[in-house]
Amino acid sequence: MMNNVKTIVENTLVPHTAFANATTQLEQCFLYAENAIEPICIPILGESRTGKSRSLENFMMEHEKSRSENGAIIPVFAVRTPAKPTVKGLAGMMLRALGDPRFDSGTEQWKTHRLQQLMSECGTRMVIIDEFQHFVDKGSAKISYHVADWLKILIDESKVALVVAGLPSCIQVLESNEQLGGRFLAPIMMPRFDWRNEEHREEFIAILDAFENSLSSHFDFPQFTSDEMAFRLHCASGGLIGYLAKILRTAVWQAVDGAKKIISIADLQVAFHKSVLTNSLNSDIPDPFASNFSVQPTSEILDCFAKLGTRTEQATNRRVTPRRKKVNE
Ligand SMILES: Nc1ncnc2c1ncn2[C@@H]1O[C@H](COP(=O)(O)OP(=O)(O)OP(=O)(O)O)[C@@H](O)[C@H]1O
Ligand SMILES: [Mg+2]
Repeated sequence: MMNNVKTIVENTLVPHTAFANATTQLEQCFLYAENAIEPICIPILGESRTGKSRSLENFMMEHEKSRSENGAIIPVFAVRTPAKPTVKGLAGMMLRALGDPRFDSGTEQWKTHRLQQLMSECGTRMVIIDEFQHFVDKGSAKISYHVADWLKILIDESKVALVVAGLPSCIQVLESNEQLGGRFLAPIMMPRFDWRNEEHREEFIAILDAFENSLSSHFDFPQFTSDEMAFRLHCASGGLIGYLAKILRTAVWQAVDGAKKIISIADLQVAFHKSVLTNSLNSDIPDPFASNFSVQPTSEILDCFAKLGTRTEQATNRRVTPRRKKVNE
């Protein structure tokens, strides 16, 4: 019972508009892939924590593996791009996703051949590649052209649909590879909700309503959808559904651990500090749950919170660069 309560946030799936759009487009793409003459490709782009992977996971759950008398049926499989992708590495990961015990052995060519054979045997209609931004090297900004070309040939020959998901910087890879880019449909964008945009604001409040519904059977808390709380929660999450989920998850864990049935503003404040303000670079961000926080949505305050979630990468880069230099010297 307690365990169910602890996972209540993870187990809540909010089918907000962008999420529903993504799902519909993935389904269409999957459906067309069956008789397609040309492969269809679709990018899912969005900042970190906007729900790209969650929408892919949800889609995968609708198209699970099964077994027939002729072996495994794997209509769709997903891999995450490793930090420095190579054809051998990526092909190996794909083979592994298809259940090949020898996924780690063989030459590039052999792996590619085996992959095509397995995809055909398993009736694969769609391949999903998450973290596609790793096709652009963070340090040197170089694009993995060879891997992108290989991918293009792979999907051309096997006629499967390709879905790539990642940060907006992925677009560089598609634009720089004419042939791969030419096969892509317009990207599905997963948004960071902007308070100044009425549609976004309503959408965010509807998301709060959905979480409120699932939490309300176990806890008492200040109504999330009230004008004031909605604004505080929007600020605290920077408009990112992932951060909202993280704050609520942390607040639920705290309540469960303390055997409490109430989640107060002070509890949300602690959860915000524990889950979002973990990076010292965010120390200039005001506390939206403090009693002296002004709930007037000024541009200044909104711009400030819109920075949440964007600083980790810069921070890592800054640390990594000097170390790399040393190695090369
Ligand atoms: N529609 C949704 N309903 C409920 N929770 C969601 C939804 N979308 C995302 N979340 C939650 O938000 C968090 C972040 O989502 P997810 O990992 O999909 O983001 P992402 O865009 O893939 O981020 P990254 O680029 O960092 O990989 C997860 O905990 C996820 O469960
Ligand atoms: Mg992800």
